[in-house]
Amino acid sequence: MSNDPLANKAQAWSALFSEPMSELVKRYTASVDFDRRLWRADIAGSLAHAEMLAAQGVIGAQDLAGIRRGMAQITEEIESGRFEWKLELEDVHLNIEARLTALVGDAGKRLHTGRSRNDQVATDVRLWLRGEIDDLALHLAEMQRALVEQAAGHAETVMPGFTHMQVAQPVSFAHHLLAYVEMFARDAERLADLRRRVNRLPLGAAALAGTSYPLDRERVAAALGFEGVCQNSLDAVSDRDFALEFSAFAAICMVHVSRLAEEIVLWMSQNFGFINLADRYCTGSSIMPQKRNPDVAELARGKSGRVVGHLMALITLMKGQPLTYNKDNQEDKEPLFDTVDTLRDTLRIMAEMVGGIVVHADAMERAALRGYATATDLADYLVKKGLPFRDAHEAVAHAVKVALQQGVDLAELPLATLQGFHPAIGDDVFAVLTLRGSLNARNVLGGTAPAQVRAQIERHRARLAAA
Ligand code: ARG
Repeated sequence: MSNDPLANKAQAWSALFSEPMSELVKRYTASVDFDRRLWRADIAGSLAHAEMLAAQGVIGAQDLAGIRRGMAQITEEIESGRFEWKLELEDVHLNIEARLTALVGDAGKRLHTGRSRNDQVATDVRLWLRGEIDDLALHLAEMQRALVEQAAGHAETVMPGFTHMQVAQPVSFAHHLLAYVEMFARDAERLADLRRRVNRLPLGAAALAGTSYPLDRERVAAALGFEGVCQNSLDAVSDRDFALEFSAFAAICMVHVSRLAEEIVLWMSQNFGFINLADRYCTGSSIMPQKRNPDVAELARGKSGRVVGHLMALITLMKGQPLTYNKDNQEDKEPLFDTVDTLRDTLRIMAEMVGGIVVHADAMERAALRGYATATDLADYLVKKGLPFRDAHEAVAHAVKVALQQGVDLAELPLATLQGFHPAIGDDVFAVLTLRGSLNARNVLGGTAPAQVRAQIERHRARLAAA
């Protein structure tokens, strides 16, 4: 057995242990296979800690120089793929520390002064997640831009708006897409908001109670770009609510994605025929030669399930854990990593796909004409002629019934027939019954009138240019 305490897992923490860990336990407890992803954050955290220790006179300038030199080499080794990750060394923290000690001797062993893996791992995860949050914010902005630019050409493209999946009222395709922009804009707001709570420093909490060394936590926080310092050591090492918040954000965002994906699937089906997708986003069938399937949209819809599942996993992981750190917390990483990966890939591919949507405006318009989408407009017309809305609603219901029996649209009924439903109906009614008349009439803030939609597109463009 080596006398380097980290070289053999049986002695990784103390001489107290008299037999080596079983192979199964070693594998079961190790996290290095996945937490090595945190290596950059781990090294950044260690350097900030070491610099502060030196400034406080806890370690010498020579030690700091050694630690810096060793970490530079380790960085180089990991980047080039030459670093040898060892399962026996359990996790990313012990792997890097052991290598540091092998490279620079005692200076490496002094690094852990006033620190524990408990505050170290909490710091690493927060640092790593902060970087991912900033990257995801860019992808969320891209997603919104793709939707806004697709919308920009379709403020006058009429499609049926649905409630209960039944044709309800005409809306523009642009207006419909902008609904998703609102959803993703709120997701981006949520992300920016939770980032503030991710961005706080646990280091200095040590194992759980704080430390007797004269640490300068504010200095470490500033060096690492944290906005604040966790104010209670027990809380600092044990809570993962920042990860839960992030995961909840991601689940909500993926639910938004899933709704858009579902609509793309529907719109592309032969029964709708509203859009087409570029071939590169579709796949064929091995048995049905005519098929072009929207697999990417379906997968995006499906992947929302695993991200929602990760939220459940993390929430359940934290439930009932007594203070402070428990090994359970090691299980926070894989769900979090997969959440980030899945969300990023999904946003990227969906943004691309939205940009490649080819719109069949004629099919949308035909569908809007089929379902008496302007019936509400006829009712509103009668209200403007002085009828109480409920009476107008009833008169129009009769009109729709007759139109249905005759298999025609409301606008195709002769004026005399329409007047049979109410004498206040004049020949100005036909302007109201057209899809475009209906669209233009909804000229209220947030409505589907092209003027409103164009103003929204400009607002989003300005907002996203600043993002
Ligand atoms: N790999 C551990 C984790 O991810 C690091 C912290 C270990 N701390 C401990 N006291 N065992 O949570």
